[in-house]
Amino acid sequence: MSSKLLEGKKGIIFGALNELSIAWKVAERAVEEGAEVVLTNTAMALRMGETAKLAEKLNTILIPADATNVEELDHLMKETMKHFGGPFDFILHSIGMSPNVRKGRHYSDLDYNYLDKTLDVSAVSFHKVIQTARKNDALKPWGSIVALSYVAAQRTFYGYNDMADAKSLLESIARSFGYIYGREKNVRINTISQSPTPTTAGQGVKGFDYLMDFSERMSPLGNASADECADYCLTLFSDYTRKVTMQNLFHDGGFSNMGMSLQAMQQYNKSFEYDKEHPFD
Ligand SMILES: NC(=O)c1ccc[n+]([C@@H]2O[C@H](COP(=O)([O-])OP(=O)(O)OC[C@H]3O[C@@H](n4cnc5c(N)ncnc54)[C@H](O)[C@@H]3O)[C@@H](O)[C@H]2O)c1
Repeated sequence: MSSKLLEGKKGIIFGALNELSIAWKVAERAVEEGAEVVLTNTAMALRMGETAKLAEKLNTILIPADATNVEELDHLMKETMKHFGGPFDFILHSIGMSPNVRKGRHYSDLDYNYLDKTLDVSAVSFHKVIQTARKNDALKPWGSIVALSYVAAQRTFYGYNDMADAKSLLESIARSFGYIYGREKNVRINTISQSPTPTTAGQGVKGFDYLMDFSERMSPLGNASADECADYCLTLFSDYTRKVTMQNLFHDGGFSNMGMSLQAMQQYNKSFEYDKEHPFD
């Protein structure tokens, strides 16, 4: 279903690693809707992942950049402007990684060097991307910047570990920079808080399958898929959302506003019946 919503728009997409990646779906859908994109990821991800395949499919270029490295981001902005022949319209930041999660460190026993890395890759990189774009005057007026977040930024989810702190910071950067870039150039900055999604990063979270199942059952509309997330991103790149900025927008089938569902209540009560029947188990 294409309506050429993004006809004439151009942007950078960070974070397409493989077909499961949310950024992969966003890039594909953006092009379907008439946009031109430049893809970027770390040199390591470009070697290990399948981003080159996507660039070929979308007939576009791939520029390596580590989003924690300001020089590489500066090079990316300059090369992208050269490629597009000037400033462009949108940026997707779809980046996350926690060495504490990867190495199974408990939140009460964090490695602080790893925590620095988590915060730099998953949150401060968002600031670096925006600051570098602004210094290069890379975005057109009414441009749009989107990053992806998770509800654990605001509620406690066992297993999400230090990524919860990174996501809180990410959402805060959208507000703080959204004010500055908005006043100055009408550039809008938002985060989308997405349902658990079975991607490489998602599946690294402890108990991910249970989390997905729980939120699927708890959300009146069910979990939002990566494809549905891509569609939502496109609306934020489009001209139909020009006055939406500094927001964290939930794209989660209603999960974030649920407290208790009938099914969850019944399941909860059943666990007590089991306890009565098996008092010594
Ligand atoms: N999967 C989920 O359940 C879920 C839910 C909510 C939000 N998100 C967020 O969505 C975003 C995309 O993740 P995904 O689920 O598509 O997983 P993914 O693993 O496909 O994508 C993560 C990307 O981050 C890139 N990356 C890591 N370090 C980087 C660096 N230093 N510089 C540049 N890129 C770097 C990786 O190479 C990869 O392409 C992340 O911000 C993630 O936290 C995911």
